[in-house]
Amino acid sequence: MKKDFYWGTATSAHQIEGAWLEDGKGLNIWDTFSHTPGKITNNDHSEVACDHYHLFEQDIALMKTLGVNSYRFSIAWSRILPNGKGEVNPAGIDFYNRLIDGCLAVGITPFVTLYHWDLPLTLQMENDGWLGQVTVDAFTEYAQVCFDAFGDRVKHWITFNENWCTAVLGNGIGIFAPGRKSEDEPYVVAHNLLLAHGQAVQVFRKGNYPGQIGIANNCDWREPLTDTAEDREAAEKALVYFFGWLTDPVFFGDYPQIMREELGDRLPTFTPEQSAMLKGSTDFIGLNHYSTHYASKEKPLQNLTGAEEGNGGMMTDQNIYLSHSPDWPRTSMGWFVVPWGFRNMLNWIKARYGDCPIFVTENGCSVAADNKEEAVNDEFRADFITQYTHAMVQAVEEDGVNVHGYFCWSLMDNFEWCRGYNMRFGIVYCDFDSQERSPKTSYFRYSDIIKKHQNAIDKA
Ligand code: BGC
Repeated sequence: MKKDFYWGTATSAHQIEGAWLEDGKGLNIWDTFSHTPGKITNNDHSEVACDHYHLFEQDIALMKTLGVNSYRFSIAWSRILPNGKGEVNPAGIDFYNRLIDGCLAVGITPFVTLYHWDLPLTLQMENDGWLGQVTVDAFTEYAQVCFDAFGDRVKHWITFNENWCTAVLGNGIGIFAPGRKSEDEPYVVAHNLLLAHGQAVQVFRKGNYPGQIGIANNCDWREPLTDTAEDREAAEKALVYFFGWLTDPVFFGDYPQIMREELGDRLPTFTPEQSAMLKGSTDFIGLNHYSTHYASKEKPLQNLTGAEEGNGGMMTDQNIYLSHSPDWPRTSMGWFVVPWGFRNMLNWIKARYGDCPIFVTENGCSVAADNKEEAVNDEFRADFITQYTHAMVQAVEEDGVNVHGYFCWSLMDNFEWCRGYNMRFGIVYCDFDSQERSPKTSYFRYSDIIKKHQNAIDKA
């Protein structure tokens, strides 16, 4: 791997910061969603989370010892603009200044995500959130405030994290905030998120801010269940509905042809100006990757543990069957561990989008544990990281995929959205009562992996 490869960890504001009502922060849709009984496992809420707002220096120190050279975090929009637009909150700016400066002081490059799902509540209540243009324009305003405040030091920007989740989980199935259920809204929401991305990138480029800007989309691999033309087509279609839906527009200026044909009027259209604005509006591809499924045209009858819905696309619209092998290990989220799927995914991106730099902006797994002792002995996660980083290295060194960075999700156990504190993704254990942090086996393993690559470069 190259010397300038970014080895990092990732978090998001709402999952770790806490301080939900401090220093002028406004409410966001997850603040209220997590206070709605029945929405979150165990009715957990995110008022304190990892208290990173107060303990961030300790967390930077943990990263320094880990040996990462980069850290991906997100900014809480409502800390900067408590009402989503208008008045700026200086205390919010101060906090991120301290965080950014703290990282830079120890040689950690910040990768900043502007939107990781925590929409200011005012925009949801007064303007229908991502269903309306007001939010698109408010995001552009917010992005500009961030570029102006932090752009002298932040050189890697990610506009949006996983628009698929915002659209499908937030406005389709309703298991994420704002909790709406609809078959058509996801397409409108995705459309507006893409326009907001395009507008923010326009501001960034016109303003000549230094550095790069891109988007982070999630996608699991879809392997054809059999080698028939039908199943190969099914797998390809599933990837297009999952990743292509939200990535094609920022490359080619429009949605994938097959979605246009199949969805008709349900898929909004871009004006020629919007299309031109979106085309080429990403300097890199951020990939969040967690798992793999088989895909087939017909319901599988083979000796499989079961066909399941899985995720990707709008489930019924893509009209594909997903299934898995009984031999694939599962994480506590129920996600399948298939490192070769990651390698295939990276190769698929190269084939579709060419040599555009890729950052693996998230990869990791949840491991169940009843207590701290169990949690820190996370051989399962350590092996996961070993195998997945190995698959990535193969994609780079053997297949020539242009990957520039890898961010392990996550630095520490945190508020796992609708699963609350019940799902632990961290390489550092977090005791949510005492806020004590304890590095896990996977932390040391990841540290060794980074060192191994560093030493190989030093020797060469
Ligand atoms: C999200 C994270 C989340 C992780 C594990 C990704 O979808 O970006 O916020 O914690 O997956 O579910």
